[in-house]
Amino acid sequence: MRLTFPPGFRFGTATSSYQIEGAIEEGGRGPSIWDTFSHTPGKVLNGDHGDIACDHYNRWPEDIALLKTLGVSAYRFSIAWPRVLPTGLESTPNPAGLAFYDRLVDALLEAGIEPWVTLYHWDLPQTLQDQGGWPDRSIVEHFVRFSDVVSRALGDRVGHWITHNEPWVVAMLGHETGAHAPGIVDKGKALAAAHHVLLSHGAAVPVIRANVPGAKVGITVNLCPAVPASPSDIDAEATRRYDGYINRWYLDPLYGRGYPEDRIAAHVEEGWLESPELPFLQDGDLETIAVERDFLGINYYSRAVIRGAEDGNLPRTVFTLPKASMHTDFDWEVQGNSLYDILCRLHTDYGEKEIVVTENGCAYSDGPDESGCIADTRRTVYLRDHIVACHRAIEEGVPLTGYFAWSLLDNFEWAEGYSKRFGLVWVDFETLERRPKDSYFWYAKTIASGVDPWSL
Ligand code: FCB
Repeated sequence: MRLTFPPGFRFGTATSSYQIEGAIEEGGRGPSIWDTFSHTPGKVLNGDHGDIACDHYNRWPEDIALLKTLGVSAYRFSIAWPRVLPTGLESTPNPAGLAFYDRLVDALLEAGIEPWVTLYHWDLPQTLQDQGGWPDRSIVEHFVRFSDVVSRALGDRVGHWITHNEPWVVAMLGHETGAHAPGIVDKGKALAAAHHVLLSHGAAVPVIRANVPGAKVGITVNLCPAVPASPSDIDAEATRRYDGYINRWYLDPLYGRGYPEDRIAAHVEEGWLESPELPFLQDGDLETIAVERDFLGINYYSRAVIRGAEDGNLPRTVFTLPKASMHTDFDWEVQGNSLYDILCRLHTDYGEKEIVVTENGCAYSDGPDESGCIADTRRTVYLRDHIVACHRAIEEGVPLTGYFAWSLLDNFEWAEGYSKRFGLVWVDFETLERRPKDSYFWYAKTIASGVDPWSL
């Protein structure tokens, strides 16, 4: 039996600018924080960087042809801010930068593929970082201006807009742990960065709407369902804290509930804040953040199984990988059921009216065998299980309207460089040859005729 999806449901794939474009010095592009970070020794595995990446900037016609053969109805990509505004400060945009996205959008439409634009997928102009970056409130107006410029230029053809990709990653990996650009380690700055990302989302939405009549505007959050490793109180408490840290800190303000009290208290206890007064919060900010959206994008990869442990006087979170679980090359547990759970939670706890899975996928390194085929069966199994979970959620009444597989191509996987391959299409990073994997052909079949849960 094949499971079919409601009419209008979109199957797509997603990518992001720094991960695939390369051509960092072409077309007047300015440097971004990821150029700086990846060229700082020791920051990215093997010293990898996005200077060339998949060279999508030059090879995009081939990539659009791959999308067309795959049969997706939508493609999510991001705009490199420093292509459009090389320092972020220019009063007029860089024509060559906009022209690149212009051509891309036209070619997608010609191929019958709906373009979904993400405005910020992490490549901040370095100059704006030098002026304080996300921890500084002035970044909000810079982001709004960038959103204005891009939505004016593409809004006659692009109807779907995502302001930000994964505020938690921007704020926490960028400013708490320093694992991502700009590599800052400062909990106070991390919380300020999170706030300014959310605030800039809220401030940009009306600007995009004004430029693009009928636009559908949303934001994408990364959600990670947290489950306790045992029924003990300490595991339950650690799980609640982690859920507050990674999920509710972003969801609650977006849904007009303000920042969660229990997590504010935990931030004070854990030394993130001196007092429950949030130093970055100004009058009206929470209303701005809670602006009405058209949809919520979620990126889902795995769940977190959590054990609590005492660390001095503080509860500490320890992640455990259940022994019997399957996991990807990232050691992320494969858990389709948790995608179902989080979709249901957004529906029942938050009352979301439209949800789109804007990323879902897995890292496996399978490459070509002697015959040239790429038998990435584990990826197909992963995608199948997660798409079946989406179908089950829809049957339960969850208003899920789209699913984007991450990613079209193997690409620059941030701090992991080229060592983690998420693509439906294999990329040889020496020759830049593209070669569809078996999962690509499976996804094409699923898009064309529904998913068969018992295939394989
Ligand atoms: C997400 C990012 C995306 C990609 C996947 C694996 O957090 O949005 O760019 O790196 O993880």
